[in-house]
Amino acid sequence: MTKKPIILGIETSCDETAVSLIQDDESGVPKILSNIVSSQFDVHKEFGGVVPELAARSHVEKIDLIAQQAIDKSGVSLDEVSAIAATAGPGLIVCLTVGLNFGKAMASSLGLPFIGVNHLEGHALSPKLNSKLDYPYLLLLISGGHSQYLSVNGLGKYKRLGTTIDDALGEAFDKTAKLLGIEFPGGPKLEKFAEKGNPEKFKLPQPIINKGGCNLSFAGLKTAVLRITKTIKTEQEKFDLAASFQKTIEEILYIKTKIALSEFNKINFQNKNSFVVAGGVAANKGIRKKLVKVSTENNFEPIFPDINLCGDNAAMIAMVGLEKFKANQFDGLDLPASPRLALD
Ligand code: KG4
Ligand code: ZN
Repeated sequence: MTKKPIILGIETSCDETAVSLIQDDESGVPKILSNIVSSQFDVHKEFGGVVPELAARSHVEKIDLIAQQAIDKSGVSLDEVSAIAATAGPGLIVCLTVGLNFGKAMASSLGLPFIGVNHLEGHALSPKLNSKLDYPYLLLLISGGHSQYLSVNGLGKYKRLGTTIDDALGEAFDKTAKLLGIEFPGGPKLEKFAEKGNPEKFKLPQPIINKGGCNLSFAGLKTAVLRITKTIKTEQEKFDLAASFQKTIEEILYIKTKIALSEFNKINFQNKNSFVVAGGVAANKGIRKKLVKVSTENNFEPIFPDINLCGDNAAMIAMVGLEKFKANQFDGLDLPASPRLALD
C-alpha cells in the first residue's frame, strides 16, 4: 500500500506563529500529526491591538523553533513529507512574508512541491479536520477580519451570499471589549463577562436586520455601547452590558442565518444540507448554541470545527494544502504574498 500524503502547513498571517503536519486518511478525515500554535498576546497586550512590525519580528524569532517542534511531535521525518503549504494571504504583509518565505525555502531545500494557501479557505475547510464533509455547504465565516455567508461549491469555488458592510464580528467583539475595559484580545473575555450579566438589561440596535438580505452590519452596536458605557457606574452593569451585547449578536446571527439558509437552498437544494461555522468567533459557546438551533430548525446539519481549530492555526492551512495536493494544484516559488486576497 502506498503511503498516504503528509502535508506540512505554515501560518503567520497575523499574530499566531503556527506549524502543523497532517496526513490523509481513508476515513475521509485527515489525521493531525502535530499542531503547534504560538500566540503573541503578551507582545501586543500593552498596545491594545496587533502591531505589525512587532508581530513580524516575533514570527522571525520563532518560526524555525515552532517548525522543529511540529516535526518532532508529528513522529515523522522530513523525507516522509509530500508537500509544504503556507498562507499567502490575506493578512499583514510583513507577517505573511515570514511564513511564506520559510515555506518556500523548506520546499526548495527538500525538493518538495510548494502550495500557497488562502487563509480564509483554511478557515472554510477547517471543519474537515474533525468531520467528513461533502460539497456544497453553506459557510458562515466569522473572524477578526471577515464576516461572510458563502456557498462553498468545491475546492476554490466560492459564491458569496452576504457580507458585513462595516465591521467584522470579531472586530465588534474586540472594540466592545475595549470600551468595557477588557484587555486585548477582548472577544473570548467578553464572552466570560457576559455569563455574569443580565442580557435583558440594555436594549441594543440590530443594524440592517430587516433589509440587505443576509448582509451584516455591526458598527452601530459599538456606538450604542459607547453611549451606555458613559452612564454605567458598577461592575455588575458592565457584565449586564456584555450580556446584552452577546444576546444581540446571537439574535442578529439567528435572523440573518435563516435568510442565508434559504438563499443557499435556492441554489443548491438537497434533502439535507450542511451549515458550517468557522473562524475565531465560532469558538463562542452562546453563538454556537443559537446557530445549532436555527440550523436544525431549517433542516441543515450544523458543523463546527473543534474549539482549538476555530482560531488561527496551521492544521487548517495543511488541510487546504492536502486538497490542493490531491488536485495537483501547486505554486511556483515566485508566488507573492497577497494582503488582500478574497475567497470569491
Ligand atoms: O480567526 P481568528 O483567530 O483570526 C482572524 O483570522 O481574524 O479570529 C480572531 C477573532 C478575534 O476578533 C477574537 O476576539 C474573536 O475571533 N474571538 C471571539 C471568541 N474567541 C475568539 N469572539 C467572541 N467569542 C469568543 N469566544
Ligand atoms: Zn483567521
